[in-house]
Amino acid sequence: MQFCGQHRKITTKYLLFLLSGQTVFSTFNNHTGKTEGMNEHHRENTIIRMFHVYKRYGAKNALVDISIDVRKNEMLLVTGPSGAGKSTLLKLLYLGEPVSEGQILIEGINLSRISNKRIPFLRRKFGIIFQDYKLIPTKTVFDNIAMVLEVTGESFRFIQKKVSSVLRTVGMEGKLNAFPPSLSGGEQQRVAVARAVVGDPKIILADEPTGSLDSESASIIMGLLKGFHDRGTTVIIATHDHEIIRKTKGRALYLKEGSIQSEDVKPTKKRPITI
Ligand SMILES: Nc1ncnc2c1ncn2[C@@H]1O[C@H](COP(=O)(O)OP(=O)(O)OP(=O)(O)O)[C@@H](O)[C@H]1O
Ligand SMILES: [Mg+2]
Repeated sequence: MQFCGQHRKITTKYLLFLLSGQTVFSTFNNHTGKTEGMNEHHRENTIIRMFHVYKRYGAKNALVDISIDVRKNEMLLVTGPSGAGKSTLLKLLYLGEPVSEGQILIEGINLSRISNKRIPFLRRKFGIIFQDYKLIPTKTVFDNIAMVLEVTGESFRFIQKKVSSVLRTVGMEGKLNAFPPSLSGGEQQRVAVARAVVGDPKIILADEPTGSLDSESASIIMGLLKGFHDRGTTVIIATHDHEIIRKTKGRALYLKEGSIQSEDVKPTKKRPITI
C-alpha cells in the first residue's frame, strides 16, 4: 500500500488487534493524528500505535506494513528469525531511526511531527535495554545510572536515593562503585536494567536482553522485567529465545521478512484491559 504526502487524509480501514481477540475497524486521520470512530476507552488505553509502518534501508525492506496497537501495561514479545526486523521495530519507537512511511503515535504524540526540542522528552518515556548492555566502562555503576537523572536536572540527594533504590531492586546495591568490566554479563545486564528504569519510564524496550546470558542470569533478567510489568510498566521485548517465548505470558508477534506473520496471546495474571 502506498501513502503519499503529509496532508493526505488516510481513510484506510485499520485492523486493531486487541487482546480480547475482537476486531475493530476505525479510521486514522493522517492530518489530525487522531483515530476517528475509535472507541474512547480503547484510545485511552493505547500507549503505542503503529499505522502502516514501513522501514527501508536502500532497497531492503526491513519492516513492511506494520499496524499494531500496544496497550498500556501490556507485555509484548516481538519474535522471529534473525533479520526479521525485531530491532528495527524497537528503534523506530524510540526515534533511533525515522520511519520510511506510515505513522507512529506514542501516547498520542505523532513521531513524524515531533519537533527536535521535544525529542528528549519523548525518549524519557522509554527505558531501553540492549543485548550488549551498553554501559560506559570507565564510569562506575552509580555514575552509569545517575547520568540518566543528571540530564533532567535532579538534585544530587534525589539521584543518590533513587540510584540506590533501583540498585536494590535489581540486587546490585553492593556494586555501587564497581566498574562494568569487573562485573559478570548477568550483573552488567542488571545494572543496565537499573539504568533503564531509574527515570520511571512508561515503556521498557528490551532488545534481546538475555541474548548474551546463561540461563540463570537470563531468568533473573526476565524476572525483573516481569516485575516492572506487574507494577504497571508497558514492556516490549524483542527476542528469538524460545524459552522466553514459552514462559512469558502476554502477546507475541511473530515477524518474518519485516511483516507480521502471526500473533499469539497468552493471558497475563492481571486481567487485560478490554474495550
Ligand atoms: N542500519 C542498517 N542499514 C542497512 N540495513 C539494515 C540496517 N539495520 C537493519 N538492517 C537490515 O534490516 C533487516 C532487519 O534487521 P533487524 O536488525 O531489525 O533484524 P532482527 O530481527 O533484529 O535480527 P536479529 O535477530 O539478528 O537481531 C535486516 O535485513 C538487516 O540487515
Ligand atoms: Mg535484532
